[in-house]
Amino acid sequence: MKPEKDVLGLTRSNKNHYKAKSPNKNKMNRNNKKKSMVMTWRRKKAAAPVEEITAVRRLFLTCKEVFSNCGSGVVPFEDKIQQLRGVLDNMKPEDVGLTPTMPYFRPIAGPENESSPRIMYLPLHECEQFSIAIFCLPPSGVIPLHNHPGMTVFSKLLFGTMHIKSYDWVVDAPMKDSKTRLAKLKMDSTLTAPCNASILYPEDGGNMHRFTAKTACAVLDVLGPPYCNGEGRHCTYFLEFPLDKSHQEDDVLRGQVEREGHAWLQERDDNPEDLNVVGALYGGPKVED
Ligand SMILES: [Fe+2]
Repeated sequence: MKPEKDVLGLTRSNKNHYKAKSPNKNKMNRNNKKKSMVMTWRRKKAAAPVEEITAVRRLFLTCKEVFSNCGSGVVPFEDKIQQLRGVLDNMKPEDVGLTPTMPYFRPIAGPENESSPRIMYLPLHECEQFSIAIFCLPPSGVIPLHNHPGMTVFSKLLFGTMHIKSYDWVVDAPMKDSKTRLAKLKMDSTLTAPCNASILYPEDGGNMHRFTAKTACAVLDVLGPPYCNGEGRHCTYFLEFPLDKSHQEDDVLRGQVEREGHAWLQERDDNPEDLNVVGALYGGPKVED
């Protein structure tokens, strides 16, 4: 019975070992042929089909890498920021299983019809290094002015039109009182999807912001690190008093700061009456293993 031959052109003496067919002739050629065959076999193995990664899984794995060595007040390296921004820029509503016609985006008024329409919050992942979540805003939904202490935050508008107003603190400016600090306007504009992700940093980029939905909107938020009261990252809400509309600040600032584009931000209670956010289970493609 002839020895069994496999695709490598080698004789298999048993299931674990391969021998050359002619052990005493043309040793050099045989060795070269064997190497070539082994390389062919390796290439075939490498070309095996690879399971395609979903966009949301790519986002999760990128966040793990980008925020691996970060903490409160530590901004990721610029190349890592651009890597995560690139992933977010390409994300679409369907990547997280959302469409504007879903019930999340129907306007439901808050208690006694006084507060903003209900906003749904869908958490995708949270660990010590970062969190990923989606805010679903019906038309006229508002996330009031709030801060992100010590964090780097990526916000990607998945669909809709949203107005963003943001501020950064003015460093070394005198305080008006123990709860009121001077801030400079960073952004006051309207975004319409598709658009790139916006980024804010612990000290700049518009660390305090307010979102106002002009249409139904979905915003994918990545926070690194997440809010944590125990580590001093508490979410504080603010009221704003633009300087160009107020006359009471002159005594404090004594004309040191231009009025235009500046505002006093006054800390509010933890649960402002115009905040109407309700948590819900995320039902889109799987994020973790
Ligand atoms: Fe925010």
